[in-house]
Amino acid sequence: MMELKIQLVPTGEIILSPGMNGESYCHSCSKAVGSDGVRVMMESALTARDRVGVQDFVLLENHTSEVAFIENLRKRFKENLIYTYIGSVLVSVNPYKDLEIYTKQHMERYRGVNFYEVSPHIYAVSDNAYRSMRTERRDQCILISGESGAGKTEASKKVLQYYAVTCPASDQVQTVKDRLLQSNPVLEAFGNAKTLRNDNSSRFGKYMDIQFDFKGAPVGGHILNYLLEKSRVVHQSHGERNFHIFYQLIEGGEEDLLRRLGLERNTQQYQYLIKGNCPKVSSINDRSDWKAVRKALTVIGFSEDEVEELLNIIASVLHLGNVQFGGEDSGNAYITTDTQIKYLARLIGVDSSVLKEALTHKKITAKGEELMSPLNQEQASSARDALSKAIYGRTFTWLVNKINDSLAYQDDAYSSKNTSVIGLLDIYGFEVFQNNSFEQFCINYCNEKLQQLFIELTLKSEQEEYEAEGITWEPVQYFNNKIICDLVEEKFKGIISILDEECLRPGDASDITFLQKLEDTVGGHAHFLTHKLADGKTRKVMGRDEFRLLHYAGEVNYNVNGFLDKNNDLLFRNLKEVMCMSENKILTQCFDREELTDKKRPETTATQFKTSLTKLMEILMSKEPSYVRCMKPNDAKQAGRFDEVLIRHQVKYLGLMENLRVRRAGFAYRRRYEIFLQRYKSLCPDTWPNWDGRLVDGVSTLVKHLGYKPEEYKLGRSKIFIRFPKTLFATEDALEVRKHSLATQLQSSWKGYSQKSKYRKLRHSAILIQAWWRGILARRRAQRRRQAADTIRRFIKGFMYRHQPRCPENEYFLDYVRYSFLMKLHRNLPKTVLDKSWPTPPPALTEASEHLRKLCMQNMVWKYCKNISPEWKHQMEQKCVASEIFKDKKDNYPQSVPKLFVGTRLNGEDINPKVLQTLGSEKMKYAVPVIKYDRKGYKARARQLLLTSNSVVIVEDAKLKQRIDYSALKGISVSSLSDGMFVLHVLCEDNKQKGDVVLQSDHVIETLTKAAICAEKINNININQGSITFTVGQGKEGIIDFISGSELLIAKAKNGHLSVTAPRLNSR
Ligand SMILES: Nc1ncnc2c1ncn2[C@@H]1O[C@H](COP(=O)(O)OP(=O)(O)OP(=O)(O)O)[C@@H](O)[C@H]1O
Ligand SMILES: [Mg+2]
Repeated sequence: MMELKIQLVPTGEIILSPGMNGESYCHSCSKAVGSDGVRVMMESALTARDRVGVQDFVLLENHTSEVAFIENLRKRFKENLIYTYIGSVLVSVNPYKDLEIYTKQHMERYRGVNFYEVSPHIYAVSDNAYRSMRTERRDQCILISGESGAGKTEASKKVLQYYAVTCPASDQVQTVKDRLLQSNPVLEAFGNAKTLRNDNSSRFGKYMDIQFDFKGAPVGGHILNYLLEKSRVVHQSHGERNFHIFYQLIEGGEEDLLRRLGLERNTQQYQYLIKGNCPKVSSINDRSDWKAVRKALTVIGFSEDEVEELLNIIASVLHLGNVQFGGEDSGNAYITTDTQIKYLARLIGVDSSVLKEALTHKKITAKGEELMSPLNQEQASSARDALSKAIYGRTFTWLVNKINDSLAYQDDAYSSKNTSVIGLLDIYGFEVFQNNSFEQFCINYCNEKLQQLFIELTLKSEQEEYEAEGITWEPVQYFNNKIICDLVEEKFKGIISILDEECLRPGDASDITFLQKLEDTVGGHAHFLTHKLADGKTRKVMGRDEFRLLHYAGEVNYNVNGFLDKNNDLLFRNLKEVMCMSENKILTQCFDREELTDKKRPETTATQFKTSLTKLMEILMSKEPSYVRCMKPNDAKQAGRFDEVLIRHQVKYLGLMENLRVRRAGFAYRRRYEIFLQRYKSLCPDTWPNWDGRLVDGVSTLVKHLGYKPEEYKLGRSKIFIRFPKTLFATEDALEVRKHSLATQLQSSWKGYSQKSKYRKLRHSAILIQAWWRGILARRRAQRRRQAADTIRRFIKGFMYRHQPRCPENEYFLDYVRYSFLMKLHRNLPKTVLDKSWPTPPPALTEASEHLRKLCMQNMVWKYCKNISPEWKHQMEQKCVASEIFKDKKDNYPQSVPKLFVGTRLNGEDINPKVLQTLGSEKMKYAVPVIKYDRKGYKARARQLLLTSNSVVIVEDAKLKQRIDYSALKGISVSSLSDGMFVLHVLCEDNKQKGDVVLQSDHVIETLTKAAICAEKINNININQGSITFTVGQGKEGIIDFISGSELLIAKAKNGHLSVTAPRLNSR
C-alpha cells in the first residue's frame, strides 16, 4: 500500500502516516486517528488550527494583539508543540520534560527539507542554516536568547547534535564531532552552576564557531567566552551553588585522588561551598557527571598530567577558601590555618612562607621604593577572595583556549578560506532580580546590543526582500533601542565611561560617588532614573543606592554597591608575583610575568566586556543570522504549567510583538513561486498536474482561479506575497478537501501501475523461461541431428571400407555389424532343440557364431535333459536301442518310430493265472500276443510271448509251452522287409529245447527291442536279406524266404520253405 501522508502546513502540524496496524497516527499531537481514514484526517486537519493554533505567528488574524499571541502560544504548549515561528524566527517554550522530538528519525525528517514544509523545530532552523551555508557559501549564525532557564543551552546542544548526526563524516571528522560534543560537559562543569532559576545555569556567555569543509563535514571549531561570573567562586546567594566542578570532584573523585589533593569527601568542609546552603540538588548527580567530565577531558585531548594540574588548581581554590585570618592587636592580619597553607603551597607549587606573606601583605611603592604593608583581617580576606576569583577565572579562560586548540582545524592543506562557519551564540538572557548588581548590568547591556542587532538585521532583511522582489516598501514604526545602548556605552558620556572614570580617579571614589556622577552626567536621559530624579511614586520602589535603566525589555533597578570593585577586579601585585612563581604549568600560563612589568593599568571589566561585545557584534554582522527566542513557561521548573504573566513579560522583553509587527507590516505570507505552485497547483485545472509556462503566470492563473482579490496579494519577482492570513487559510482548506480525491486518484493510479508492472514482469519472466526452454530443446535436437549425421556418415564410410582391415574409418561400421548381428541373434535364438534356424553371421563373426550356435544347442540339450521325466527317458532309451538295431535295416522300422513303446501288451488278466503261478517269483517284464509257426508244417498258432527277468517264455493258454533262458538264446533273426516274422535261435546243446522258434508279431520292433534289452542281446539281432535259416532240432534246418510283394502273405512254399511276402513300405 502506498504511504499516505497528509500535512497541514503552515497552519497546524498534522502529519499523518499509516501506523503499524494500518491506523493513522498524528505525530505532532500524539493522538491516534481512527481507521476511518481520510475523512477523519481531513476533519482533524481542518479543526487543528483551532486546537493547536498557527505554527507561524505571522498567520495570526489579529497580529497586533498580545492576547492572541499568548493564546496561540498557550494552545500549542498544551499540545506539547513547543516551537512556533515568527517568519524565520523560532520561538521556543521550555517544556521542562523530555519530549520524543529529538530522535534520529526526527533529524532525518528535517534533513534537506524546506523550512516551511515541516512543523517548526530547532532542527528546521539548524538545517536551514546549514543549507544556506552550503548553497550560498555564506557564513551563518544562530542566535539563541532568552532568560535564565529558558532553554538556550539545551537548544544549542540540540543544534550541535543535529550537525553531529546529519552531516557527512569521515574518521577524522568523527573525532572533531566527538570533541565538539564533549566540549559541552567540560565547559558546563567549570562554567555552569545551580541558581535559583536554573539547576544548570550557564554563568558565562558562549559563542561557538563550527567550521565545515567544502563537503559540508564539520572539521573544526572555536569558542569565545564572555564574562564568567567569578564572584560565584567566593560567594553564592541562598539556595544557589558554586560551579559544578567543585561538587563533582568532591563527590566523584577517587579516594587516592582526594588524598593527593588533601580534600575530604564532604562539601560542608569548604567555606566556598556552604554560602548558599545548598549542597545537594535533586536534578543533579555529581558523581555520574564527574565520570562524564573525566571522559570528556580525555576525548578532548587532555593528558593525565594536565588533568592532574587542573584538579590541583580546583583543590587549591577550595583550600584558599578555608584560609582564615586572625587579627593581632596592631590590627594586622595573620593566618590561623597553617595546614591549608601547606596544601596550597604544594598544590600550586610555591613556597609556603612566600605565600603566607603575600596573603597578609600588600606591596606598595612609596617614593620609588617598594614596601610590604600589612593588611588588616578584612583586607586579607578580600585579597584571598580576589586571588581565588583570579585563579578560577583565568583557569577557565585557559580551559577554553585548550579546548580551542583541540578543536582547531588541523588540515594545513586548506586554509580557513575554504571552510564555512556556523556560529552558535548561547548567551545569558535579560535578567531582572530583586537585587541587581554589576553582573546584571553587563548582561542586560549585552541583551540590548543583541536586540539592536536583531532589529537592524530583521528590518534590513525585510526591506531588502521587498526591494529584491520589486514591491514598494512601506516604512514600519518600531522602537529602536540604540538610545539605550548609547546611554551605556557612549564614549565619555556613557555609564561605562563614567564608571571607569570613577575607578581610575585618584581620591576617595566610591560606589556612591559613582551614582552621583551618573546623576550629573546622564541624569536627563529619558531611559535613566535615580531615587533623587524620580517622582514620588517611583521613589517608593527605589533605593537611594540604586539607579534605574528603562531597557527595551523593561525597567531594571541596579544597586551600585560593589560596582567599582567588580569593575576594577583588583588583584594585589604581590599575589600576582607569587602566582607567577607557581610550578603548576597551567598557572604559569595564566599568570604571565609580563603582566608584572607592564605599567599600564589593566582594562576594567566593563570596558573589556564592551570591547568583546563590539567584536561579537562584528562577527555576527558578518554572518547571516537565524534566531531562536527561548522562553520559560513558569518559574517553578514545572512541566505543563503556563504562567501567563511570566510569558507576557518575556514576550515583551524579547520584543516578539515588535518582531511580529515588522514581519507583518506588509504581507502575512510569502513564498517562492515554485513552492507555492507546487503546493496548490492541484486546486486549478490549468495548473494541474503540471504548469508548462512561466512560474509567475502559473501562480497568477492559480490565484485568479481561486478568486483572490487584487488587494489580497502581490506578485514579486520570485515570490507571491499574501496580505491576510485568511486568504491563505481558505486556500489551505480547499487543499485539504482536494487532497481526499487526490489521494484516491493517486491510490488507484498507483494500484493500476503496480499491477501493470507486476503483470509485465510476470510476462517478461514467462517469455524468458519459454525462450530458454525452447533454446534447450532446439540445442538438444540440433545435437541429436548432428550425432545422427555423424553416425550415418561414419556408417557409410565404414561400409565403403568394410573389406579393409580394421581401421578408424570402418571400425564403427564393423562394430555396428557385429553388434546388430548379436542383437538379432539375441532376439531370434532357437527356442527348441529341433529348431535349426540361426541368423547368418557377418564374415568376421563366422567362427564366433558357430561357437555360439553350439553353445546354444548344448544349453538347450542340457536344459531338455534336465527337465525330462524318468518314463520318457526310459522310452527314449528303448527307442535309441531300437534305432541302433533297426534304423535303415528293416523296412517297417520308420513306421514304428512315432509310435510309443508300451510297458506290456498283455496285462495280468490277459494271461492265464496258472502261467503266472508257474512263473512264481520270476518278474514278468513284457507280454505280447504272437503267432507261432510250426517247424514242419508252418502251421500258424496263436501264442503269448512273455519276457521275464531270466527267460523268454511261450505260452499257450494255461500251458507254458517253451521256456528259453536268455543264456540259451543264441540270437534273433528278422528279415529286412516290413513283415513281423522273427526267429529265436536257441543253443542246440540244450536238449530240452526243440530247436529255434519261428514267431510273428504285429509289434515286431517293440517286441524285439524289449527282448534284446531284457536278454542283453542287442548285438545279437540279425537282419537278413532274402532268407533266414533256422534249426529244427536234431541237426535239421528250415528256411524262411522273404520276398517283396504287394501284401503280406505267409505260406509254405513248394520247396518246403516258408515263404513270406511283405509289402514294401519305404522306397530306398
Ligand atoms: N527542549 C527542552 N526539552 C526538555 N527540557 C528542556 C528543554 N530546554 C530546556 N529544558 C530544561 O530546562 C533546563 C534549563 O535549560 P537551559 O540550561 O538550556 O537554560 P538556559 O537558557 O541555558 O539558562 P541559563 O541562561 O541559566 O544558562 C534544562 O536543564 C532542562 O531541564
Ligand atoms: Mg545556559
